[in-house]
Amino acid sequence: MKTTIGVFYGCRSVEHEVSIISAVQAMNSIKKEKYDVVPVYVAKDGIMYTGADLFTIENYRDLPKLLKNCHQVTFIKTGEGVSLHYLKNGVFSKKKDVKIDLAFPIVHGTNCEDGTMAGYFEFLGLPYISCDIISAAVGMDKSVFKDVLMGAGLPTLPCYTFRARQYLINKEKTANEIEEKIGFPLIIKPVNLGSSVGISKVKSKEELVNAIDLAVSFGDKILAEKAISSLREINCSVLGDADDCMASVCEEPFMQDEILSYKDKYLGGSKGSKQQGSSKGMASLGRKIPADISAEKSEEIREISCKIFKAIGASGVVRIDYLMDTSDNDKIYANEINTIPGSLAFYLWEATGLKYTDMIDKLADIAFKRQRNRDNLTFTIDTNILSGVSFGSKGSKGSKF
Ligand SMILES: Nc1ncnc2c1ncn2[C@@H]1O[C@H](COP(=O)(O)OP(=O)(O)O)[C@@H](O)[C@H]1O
Ligand SMILES: [Mg+2]
Repeated sequence: MKTTIGVFYGCRSVEHEVSIISAVQAMNSIKKEKYDVVPVYVAKDGIMYTGADLFTIENYRDLPKLLKNCHQVTFIKTGEGVSLHYLKNGVFSKKKDVKIDLAFPIVHGTNCEDGTMAGYFEFLGLPYISCDIISAAVGMDKSVFKDVLMGAGLPTLPCYTFRARQYLINKEKTANEIEEKIGFPLIIKPVNLGSSVGISKVKSKEELVNAIDLAVSFGDKILAEKAISSLREINCSVLGDADDCMASVCEEPFMQDEILSYKDKYLGGSKGSKQQGSSKGMASLGRKIPADISAEKSEEIREISCKIFKAIGASGVVRIDYLMDTSDNDKIYANEINTIPGSLAFYLWEATGLKYTDMIDKLADIAFKRQRNRDNLTFTIDTNILSGVSFGSKGSKGSKF
């Protein structure tokens, strides 16, 4: 019997569109002989839709028309498991609930990749691919992620973290503290956004306030860290779970500006690239695979990547991004982890010798293994507590029930 996979994507996030690209790529790479795929598109207002038209990327250009051809849905839990349930069901063409065996979240950014989506599946009791609540949440907050790495003795740049309110009450004081603790040049970024949103490189005190003003317009918690000026960026993907994981080959993404921008990442590669405006998501970024680094450096990064994966208790497929300081012996610092990376980093796995379709099989196996382990845990204990408790109330008088 086939496994029914619900692919969840979209959501209220600045990376909504990128998620659509990643999800449509994945849905078209899932083995149809093994799985039935049910798209679950979460619109920016949180309403969930399904429909056959969601498999085609071109249909998303006219979203109102696309959604008109789709159906609003929700999920219900019964004794048999979790099912997709059609809302506003027609009287004459009533659509039957669809039992979902596995959830496959392909979401990026806050309100979804940060553990919110994992929490939804945990609450429903639906097995799901990717990190659990705690590892997803740690991965989303760049400052907490650094704390965990430092605790585990893994390389990352130290940072100074502050709240928007603290800054707005006394801008001068916060700016002085940043200058004193970090020094210029430095980077200002919100701790929990992606796609380079709200990030600036700051070379002087004069530029600092503008950079923080920009960052606080996107997020409440901001970090400042030393900017690496002689920079190369190297990324590595890890696949597996805390028991057993493996690292992909490394890649080097290329940037047009001083920082890798949203445009570099999603709108088509390096300068003069023929892919300008293409819709391949992270797979279209200008990059070198494998990265042009020594075999020792690559091995060092792959080893650290597995350690980081285990340190945060990750599961599924992640991408860990590094900053390499070429003025300091190519020293590397883990910059961030993407617990649901753009395009699921499939291009790194294909370069490592694992086909995208087979990678999805592995992801499903990992998710079911976690569920089996959970099912073996004890979540209830028999007690007799309620048998002796009484508040002396007179039933449900006046209540709606
Ligand atoms: N400490 C740093 N020194 C130099 N460049 C940095 C530093 N931190 C970030 N950058 C640049 O900014 C880009 C975006 O920052 P990053 O922390 O990766 O945020 P995002 O989650 O938005 O990708 C990086 O890819 C890199 O080009
Ligand atoms: Mg990044």
